[in-house]
Amino acid sequence: MLATRALPNPPPSPGGVRTGRRFVFPGVASPRTLEIRETETQATKAIWWWLTPVLYLVAVYVWAKKALCRLVGYTPRMNWLFYDGISASSRYVRDNATTGKALEFLYRRKQAATSWIGKWIDQVWLTYTEVQAINNRLAVVEDELRKAVNRLVGEVPVINILSLACGSAYAVLRIAKECKDAGIPVQCLLVDWDRTAIYAARNVAKELGIEDLVEVRVGDVVEGAESLILDHDAHVVEMVGLWDYLDRVTIRNLTREITHALEVVTGGTNATFIAGNVNPNPHSVFLRHVVGWVTRKGKKSMIYRDEGEFGKLFDIATNWRLEKPRLEPCGIHRVAALVADFEQP
Ligand SMILES: C[S@@+](CC[C@H](N)C(=O)[O-])C[C@H]1O[C@@H](n2cnc3c(N)ncnc32)[C@H](O)[C@@H]1O
Repeated sequence: MLATRALPNPPPSPGGVRTGRRFVFPGVASPRTLEIRETETQATKAIWWWLTPVLYLVAVYVWAKKALCRLVGYTPRMNWLFYDGISASSRYVRDNATTGKALEFLYRRKQAATSWIGKWIDQVWLTYTEVQAINNRLAVVEDELRKAVNRLVGEVPVINILSLACGSAYAVLRIAKECKDAGIPVQCLLVDWDRTAIYAARNVAKELGIEDLVEVRVGDVVEGAESLILDHDAHVVEMVGLWDYLDRVTIRNLTREITHALEVVTGGTNATFIAGNVNPNPHSVFLRHVVGWVTRKGKKSMIYRDEGEFGKLFDIATNWRLEKPRLEPCGIHRVAALVADFEQP
């Protein structure tokens, strides 16, 4: 049930003046824009693309090895010598697969090995297609967040951004820092059910010097999305990464809740919901069997959706405009923004 709440019309701010559809507030009178640096997403494809067929064979080998080991009741220490055997960075990713910790590690492309051969192999994996793709996704999400912020500058006194299943919240926090530098008031609420992800996000906020702009909460976002939006008066919701693990019915219910709650807060003007999903791609077999990046329940592979299936997840939000979903240059991650630019009657 959607919580009942008065629509913010007129908006909750001292002294806002309506000019056409825009409200202009003292202190944020000129609708400055953040620079949209779309060029960042023109990231090159990874240099190790030619390894892909080899890694397909490696995945089959690892799958067979694990099946044999299970038969004799033995747990192998490594999946493949040249992945989690020699490369300490890859071991870290394998051990923290699907968590915000692994993602943050990949965003920073941290080298963990100490020997020269280990460092070299770390470097191969840290520049491999999957890692390039996750960094491309980060850049696309940042672009979409910039656009979302630009739509709101001059419209509300403080732009409230909510990150659901935030992980290390890299994208949201970096955009909040850009806003701070540009003098645009912003507040972020970051929510994840994993305390280590929240801890990592707080550290990133500290590094960027924006702790004062950030509030964190531990909790299940599938259960609590609607009340989180209403509590935070959110104008922008970012939930990129979570759909890879959720079924269609859950996603559609969540999308309905999120868009309804955003309409309640914004009255249907300039709200943005950013989501993403992993696209079917040839790296998925390696990711599942060698990296071990699988869903928690039943250790199943992530849920890959092509453009058609991805688009259908949004059709529950009538009235909202789906900006053309963007597939990053490696063809692995797709991100889209749903934008509300209608006014509720
Ligand atoms: C979905 S990705 C986060 C991606 C993040 N937005 C980014 O781009 O780096 C992984 C995070 O989702 C969190 N997570 C998964 N399911 C969740 C749930 N139902 N409620 C809250 N957090 C969840 C995990 O703890 C993990 O930190």
